[in-house]
Amino acid sequence: MMKKRIAVVASGRGSNFQAVIDAIRAGTVPAECAALITDNPKAYALERAQKAGIPCRIIDYATFPSREVYERALLLTMKEADVDLFVLAGYMRILSSSIVRAFPQKMINIHPALLPSFTGLHAQRQAVLYGVKVAGCTVHFVDESLDGGPIILQKCVPVLDSDDEDALAERILLHEHQCLPEAIRLFCEDRLVIEGRKVRIL
Ligand code: GRF
Repeated sequence: MMKKRIAVVASGRGSNFQAVIDAIRAGTVPAECAALITDNPKAYALERAQKAGIPCRIIDYATFPSREVYERALLLTMKEADVDLFVLAGYMRILSSSIVRAFPQKMINIHPALLPSFTGLHAQRQAVLYGVKVAGCTVHFVDESLDGGPIILQKCVPVLDSDDEDALAERILLHEHQCLPEAIRLFCEDRLVIEGRKVRIL
């Protein structure tokens, strides 16, 4: 099977990006990571990309006069990347509809909650404050809704009485690092079929 080309879009630490790099290197994900795209020139993900020899594209949000102009540059960069799949791994902005529509069924995101609960920012904090007994992570296709696209994989973890946001985030993160490469593997093996809201895994 031909290896698929993927690009990772990340804004920060990039531990999920690292999990993807490691899985590709280990041969468990049949993909080539063609680019890291970031909106943040200080993202630690950039160092990870450099170490792994992955080309970086920095679209520094702060240097653009408006969100629209930034998004036009981002869209251009994404088109130039010419990949089969974009992986949002800690990209901290909401993508405009025009970007989402440009890559239908070609973009996935990892979210640190059991969707549809706790969308948006600080999902782990939301879970702790709400008092849920289980939390987790979700990998889903990106559509024009906020964290609302068809769900590919979910993993759950217990929430302990002693948990604060950070402790829960750490427990969830371990599962994110499994889930994200696994979802990419399934995509790259052409095993994901979207049927309305549902994703069937072949
Ligand atoms: C992860 O918790 C991810 O689910 C969320 O942002 C965080 C990014 O962490 N979208 P990292 O940059 O991958 O370490």
